[in-house]
Amino acid sequence: MHKMASGQLSRAEALACTNCRHACHVMLYCDTQNELFGQIPIKHIILMQMRFDGLLGFPGGFVNPSEESLEEGLSRELLEEIGAVVPISVENHVESCQSPASTSSTGLILHFYAKKMEEEQILELERSAASTAIDHGHEVLGMVRVPLYCTKEGGLSSFLSHSFIGTARQQLLDCLLRFGLISPQNLCQALSISVATHKRTTKDLKSALALMKGKQQ
Ligand code: APR
Ligand code: MG
Repeated sequence: MHKMASGQLSRAEALACTNCRHACHVMLYCDTQNELFGQIPIKHIILMQMRFDGLLGFPGGFVNPSEESLEEGLSRELLEEIGAVVPISVENHVESCQSPASTSSTGLILHFYAKKMEEEQILELERSAASTAIDHGHEVLGMVRVPLYCTKEGGLSSFLSHSFIGTARQQLLDCLLRFGLISPQNLCQALSISVATHKRTTKDLKSALALMKGKQQ
């Protein structure tokens, strides 16, 4: 049994909060034998999305437990955001927690799921997300895959240095270890490079801002 971090709730405890808002998100993933440039093993395809707010996140959204089960609500959200029926069951539940950003009056409970699929199914989801999903180009700017490898230029370290919605980065890291998709050593290494990448990005943004300020005058 995975140790529950502080602030975590069981699915039943979370559902007992009837005046809370509930949101469900899922990590859909598969194994793959494919290689990048014919030599770097890709190992797993993990789907995330570029959201309307410019942040990376997992597919899913608000559900209404008085009208639908959490899993039905999540499947409904996936139909809107990915354009395909993806059945989600209680077995796919990973964790529930109070949103760190929520207060007791505007309680938001976040439910997280993970579902392992076949590679062909994941490829089909990528196709439908770009062609039939009603949210495509509106609430979802595009599905993206998480690079798990390290290249000279970056890979996972650069991916992790982007901006994420809420606790999505932590959910990703937690699932990578939980499902053995990366070793703790490799994840540590990627994170330490990521911190350095982030510092460089901050520096770039500061000089871009200084340049723009100069142009305003
Ligand atoms: N971790 C933590 N919080 C998250 C995560 C995550 N991985 N992903 C989303 N959230 C939060 C968001 O900040 C949001 O408050 O959960 C809530 C609902 O998730 P969304 O996927 O944004 O909800 P969705 O139903 O798909 O659409 C959101 O709300 O902001 C409006 O107009 C916007 O129509 C949109 C709707
Ligand atoms: Mg959403």
